[in-house]
Amino acid sequence: MAQSRREFLNSGLSLAAGAGLAGILPVGFGLQSCTGRKGANDRIRIALIGCRNQGYNNVCTFIEQPDVDLVALCDIDKNILDSRFADIQKYAYDKKVTVPKPDKYEDFRKVLERKDIDAVIIATPDHWHALITIMACQAGKDVYVEKPVANSVFEADQMVHAAERYKRVIQVGQWQRSGLHWQEMVDFIQSEKLGPISHVEVWRYGGNPVPKLPDAPKPQGVNYDLWLGPAQLRPFNPNRFHYNFRWFWDYAGGKMTDWGVHLLDMAMWSLKLKQPDTIKATGGNLVYPDDAMETPDTLTVEYQFDQTLVVWQNNFGLKTNEFGFDHGLEFHGNNGTLRANRNFWEVIPASLNGVPATEPVPRNMNAGNDLSLHVRNFLDAIKMRNFDTAANIKIGRDVARVAHMGNISYRTGQLLHWNADNGSFNEQVANSYLTPSFRKPWEINKI
Ligand SMILES: NC(=O)c1ccc[n+]([C@@H]2O[C@H](COP(=O)([O-])OP(=O)(O)OC[C@H]3O[C@@H](n4cnc5c(N)ncnc54)[C@H](O)[C@@H]3O)[C@@H](O)[C@H]2O)c1
Repeated sequence: MAQSRREFLNSGLSLAAGAGLAGILPVGFGLQSCTGRKGANDRIRIALIGCRNQGYNNVCTFIEQPDVDLVALCDIDKNILDSRFADIQKYAYDKKVTVPKPDKYEDFRKVLERKDIDAVIIATPDHWHALITIMACQAGKDVYVEKPVANSVFEADQMVHAAERYKRVIQVGQWQRSGLHWQEMVDFIQSEKLGPISHVEVWRYGGNPVPKLPDAPKPQGVNYDLWLGPAQLRPFNPNRFHYNFRWFWDYAGGKMTDWGVHLLDMAMWSLKLKQPDTIKATGGNLVYPDDAMETPDTLTVEYQFDQTLVVWQNNFGLKTNEFGFDHGLEFHGNNGTLRANRNFWEVIPASLNGVPATEPVPRNMNAGNDLSLHVRNFLDAIKMRNFDTAANIKIGRDVARVAHMGNISYRTGQLLHWNADNGSFNEQVANSYLTPSFRKPWEINKI
């Protein structure tokens, strides 16, 4: 059962994450911790919230850094908490790094209460990201939060305001931003050697079906109410739980917010794109029409950003495109095409009467250390109180907004026109998707 509001307030933490709460937050819950600059040799004490898949990947990378102490693990699933505790011990031992003995928690609010924790990693399903991030900011923690930063545009905006208001360093888990081959790609595009770039293709193919399963009792050791949090109350269904939550609107936005935010971010970064003028989505569950997924297994979204058309595609039925790549981007300029993915980037010149319009660029390979660089960038930013991390919260917000716009066009079935001046669509029906409806007592107030 959810605790009552009074119980929450008595337990020392506010449910609501937002403005106007300073007066009701307990002494000690807040900006006392970790506001000052740390020295280069100081250690950073971290906690992981959400331990199963990406949380585990992240935390392994953190503990390999010489100045990190992992002091707390938190998960609503005791089975995951215990198994990841053991996995982390083994990983640290194998890697010959300090073997941590973190305390274990079911409830993230207990983690946020601890004044000795400098930063939290948030790797829960998407519908929790904004609430925990904002509460962590209020508690004086710096935050490494997974992408997409939030499950709605409103939440993402409040995260930006919270980081500014509480002066917290935030790194979003868009680790491609720290990848050296991606940075080289961006530099090349900005050199304008490709000429005007009017068309960018962005795609992620492949995916597994999710056959329908009946509702079932929640597994032993799982606090299902705390997994649902602000999402609508429903019976437990194994399909909507670990990992597969991605395919259900209450918790996430399908392949678009899973892979789309990573790859669309590369297009937006390279071409300095912010907000599209129009968004047009088509698609459906065309490959697996009878399975359980709500989000589309086949989706094409055309975004028009001023002079550039950016087209996103996901398709669970296709393995690769005609050149053999299951994901990537192609920037089509007048002088040639730049193709990039997580492994390499290259340039294929256009031919003008048999003459290459620009120099070819052979494949530049990824060094394979993007996540380590990203984590290091965050830790250094904490020490320097540098708010401009490689994937700061505005970067995360901007691409999450674009991804959600694509999904909103799909869900409304409409060509949408975005008004960047007032942050809303011209089409009224689409605006109702910008703000989530939270299950009480959880809420996020406008900050
Ligand atoms: N950056 C990347 O490359 C990358 C890769 C994979 C996933 N992700 C992101 O990471 C997030 C998690 O995805 P995943 O695949 O690891 O999911 P997952 O379901 O495997 O793991 C999520 C974990 O969070 C726990 N959890 C849920 N609510 C919680 C709460 N209130 N408090 C504490 N723990 C809670 C779950 O029990 C589970 O152990 C998603 O937002 C996803 O988009 C990012």
